[in-house]
Amino acid sequence: MRPSFHIMTFGCQMNVNDSDWLARTLAQRGFVQSPLAEAELVILNTCSVREKPEQKVYSALGRIAQATRHNPKAFVALAGCVAQQIGESIFDGYPQVRLVLGSDGLSFAPDAIERLLAERDARLCFTDFSDSYIERPLEISPGDRPAKPAAFVNIMQGCDNFCAYCIVPLTRGKPKSRPTEAVLAECRALLEAGAKEITLLGQNVNAFGEDTAGDGTGFAELLRRIAALPGLTRLRFVTSHPKDFSTELIRAFGELEALCPRLHLPLQAGSDRILARMGRKYGRTHYLKLIRQLRAARPDMAFSTDIIVGFPGEREEDFQDTLTIVEEAHFMSSFSFCYSDRPGTAAERMPDKLDTNAKLERLARLQALQEKLSFAWLQERVGNDSVLLLEGPSRKASSKGEAWQGRDPYGVPVNIILPAGSGKPGDLVPARVTEAKKHSLLAVAV
Ligand code: 5AD
Ligand code: SF4
Repeated sequence: MRPSFHIMTFGCQMNVNDSDWLARTLAQRGFVQSPLAEAELVILNTCSVREKPEQKVYSALGRIAQATRHNPKAFVALAGCVAQQIGESIFDGYPQVRLVLGSDGLSFAPDAIERLLAERDARLCFTDFSDSYIERPLEISPGDRPAKPAAFVNIMQGCDNFCAYCIVPLTRGKPKSRPTEAVLAECRALLEAGAKEITLLGQNVNAFGEDTAGDGTGFAELLRRIAALPGLTRLRFVTSHPKDFSTELIRAFGELEALCPRLHLPLQAGSDRILARMGRKYGRTHYLKLIRQLRAARPDMAFSTDIIVGFPGEREEDFQDTLTIVEEAHFMSSFSFCYSDRPGTAAERMPDKLDTNAKLERLARLQALQEKLSFAWLQERVGNDSVLLLEGPSRKASSKGEAWQGRDPYGVPVNIILPAGSGKPGDLVPARVTEAKKHSLLAVAV
């Protein structure tokens, strides 16, 4: 029998997508997914974007050693950003780790794992950056049919903006766009297998096609070509940078029906002084103008964002600027984090670091404001007509029919009761929103 494997994934959607690909590829080769304690191979796909996700990786390594201690053959493959950052020096402290797969190394995983099974004393490390996006076989296989209703497609990897706080340019390398035809082929295959919604992934999708691996197609053009594929009803993308948001892209929101009226646009800070120290290359006026232009192109647009509080040198008045822009932009949701030093970044070397309590206190104030705005935004949806993409049965039982969970075009989870046997995952159901819960909506079919 082929060995059993278990995958643990931390961090961003790209990691989740990469882990899915690896799981499918190993399953095709006959490997069997198992609970952690029964796994011979444990793959840990890691994130180092902030201090907390990185700490989780080290505690996971401890948990793996504990759970697999009865099996001397069990070994660990460390993948993702922590693997890229630490490289083979992880071998010293962690005897179970026999494979290190950096950001551009994941495609070597299946063959490397086969080799490690044959050569029990070997250890392998793949942390070299490549100049182009490495295409992976089997991005979608016949075994995937039917595909999940909402699918993810990598379009580029890496970033060279070097925002002062950010470790990504060090862990993911410079931007590498995937060839347009490869992106289109994967989208087509997913749609043929039943996907209805596609989310394009990359650290800075706006820069698609602008690196040396690009083939002349820019991001707005890529969106147009994908939006024209038969079977596609919803198109999304993450993540974009406000400084690179082109007029053409704004226009695309007004013109492409499949493009969802929801944009995740990381703000990071509301004060021009802090934005400049972060090296973001835009100010609050630019950000707010972008939001206004997008709302003019598409009046039902909603925005979400990422915010860092307590960046080195952030004063109370800078933080007040963050609070006011959050209100002005009326974000439907935001992810907010306390600044943490990342090794090798410019901000790590900056003076005027804030103490933990000051950062936590600002974070609490920001999150309280966002909670109020998020709930107000959900309440504004009540009474509106919408279309839900059904994902699966919801946990809530009902005597009146079957309870389903779907998502609206904003990506909000919506619960709906449908007559028994009338729905299936991937269905698009016209609905009217009837009630706002704390983080979700209720709707009825119309
Ligand atoms: N400290 C805190 N938050 C950070 N982020 C990135 N680097 C740091 C850091 N050093 C946040 C940013 C980014 C999100 C993915 O993580 O808000 O958009
Ligand atoms: Fe990090 Fe800035 Fe690149 Fe985003 S744009 S990945 S925050 S360096």
